[in-house]
Amino acid sequence: MFKNFLGNKANTALTIEQRKSECMREAVPSHIAIIMDGNGRWAKKRALPRVAGHREGMKTVKKITRCASEIGVKALTVYAFSTENWKRPKDEVDFLMRLPVDFLDTFLPELIERNVRVETIGDSSVLPLHTQKALTEAMETTKHNTGLVLNFALNYGSRDEMVKAMKAIMMRVAEGELTAEQVDEDCITAHLMTAHLPEPDLLIRTSGEVRLSNFMLWQLAYTELWFTDMLWPDFNEAAFLDAVMSYQKRNRRYGGLKGEETK
Ligand code: FPP
Repeated sequence: MFKNFLGNKANTALTIEQRKSECMREAVPSHIAIIMDGNGRWAKKRALPRVAGHREGMKTVKKITRCASEIGVKALTVYAFSTENWKRPKDEVDFLMRLPVDFLDTFLPELIERNVRVETIGDSSVLPLHTQKALTEAMETTKHNTGLVLNFALNYGSRDEMVKAMKAIMMRVAEGELTAEQVDEDCITAHLMTAHLPEPDLLIRTSGEVRLSNFMLWQLAYTELWFTDMLWPDFNEAAFLDAVMSYQKRNRRYGGLKGEETK
């Protein structure tokens, strides 16, 4: 039995199809961001090499992408490789860099069929050429698709993103395109790598860790957080839909008051 944190009680009696219908009765989160954690521990529990956990984790990405697109989520951002992940052993980094290639080799036709658009955030210019090529081709092929945006955070770090945004803004100020007074929250948001996406409504993190690990720190300011101790390769449609239902029961106040509370 897996434990979800923060009072997220799941109704285990519901089937996947019933969960989907429940979710679609109410507003589905527009943008869901996921920290896919626990691949290494999943492998270790089975006395397998860590990369076996990453490979299994790739299958979970496929399952969750299908499910998100079926319930009408507009954007799904998955944290696939952080700016800190370069510190891992070379073999593991090489494997992680190969995964987007394998994922797209095996899944792109289905993504096209499902009208999914592939995008990335993070500095992809330093990724190996085969990784860049697979991503560029997928982005080009799917660029006119109007369904779910499947957004891979690859070589992504929120602080790095903020530094880049600050530099871009300072350049524009120096060139007289912007004044310092014009630099406000909207201006900063517009200079982030996620400028074209709505802010995440829901963040999911697997594996029992309860932290943000340099992921979308600006964008998550008002996001609802959902944690589970399931390891990413074990994560599934039922848990994903439970997270969405839990989100739908929450009272988002953005620092203000709602309805009856104002009377
Ligand atoms: C963290 O688990 C996970 C990662 C650093 C990699 C995430 C990658 C995937 C889930 C594969 C899917 C990728 C694509 C491109 C489809 P960890 O290895 O840190 O787990 P641990 O904390 O148990 O060691």
